[in-house]
Amino acid sequence: MSSDELQNILEQTWSGLTKAAGQADHPWRLPALGTQGLNGPDVRTMVLRSVDATTRQLTAQTDIRSAKVPGFRKDPRVAWHFFDPQTRIQVRANGRVAVHHDDEVTHAAWAAVPEANKRNYATSSAPGSPVDDLSPGQAQAAGDAAAYANFAVLSSEITFIDWLQLDDEQHRRAQFTWTGSDWHGTWMVP
Ligand SMILES: Cc1cc2nc3c(=O)[nH]c(=O)nc-3n(C[C@H](O)[C@H](O)[C@H](O)COP(=O)(O)O)c2cc1C
Repeated sequence: MSSDELQNILEQTWSGLTKAAGQADHPWRLPALGTQGLNGPDVRTMVLRSVDATTRQLTAQTDIRSAKVPGFRKDPRVAWHFFDPQTRIQVRANGRVAVHHDDEVTHAAWAAVPEANKRNYATSSAPGSPVDDLSPGQAQAAGDAAAYANFAVLSSEITFIDWLQLDDEQHRRAQFTWTGSDWHGTWMVP
């Protein structure tokens, strides 16, 4: 890393993301996740569920039947977007998603899903299916096993971060690229 300040920014970015995953009211807790959908660019709000700075993983949870999943099979590249209006820091993180379904990753994550949230995975029809009225498409009182069958964990390995802070005195922007063994940081014109 070319300067201590770049190193600080990278460390603060990962520690902020880690904090966000465990703090419901953190502004980075609800990022937007951009993908190449089957019909072109797509973006949606997700809950950031866990962060591992060492392995550069950001994870989210979803219904395996949702439209984004076949999109990942077509193109696993993703862009996360985080913004904190207080600090005016924007972080964009790019990586590739691996979809976990009915494996040890989903098994461990499912054990921590609150009972009320488990019902979200128990709808009889897939998310995004048209319904005549809302009640039949809503979560049914299906068993835990049926809900778990629809549960997926999206693990994205991050290889690029674009960091931007808007400040009244001086805007600052930096980019960090994973070289395969280390992060390479550089200042950018904002
Ligand atoms: C505050 C908020 C949090 C959300 N969190 C998630 C989430 O963690 N996982 C998820 O699959 N969808 C989540 N959604 C719904 C998605 O934004 C999206 O509508 C849904 O996943 C369907 O997207 P798709 O059609 O691209 O698959 C959330 C929506 C909001 C408004």
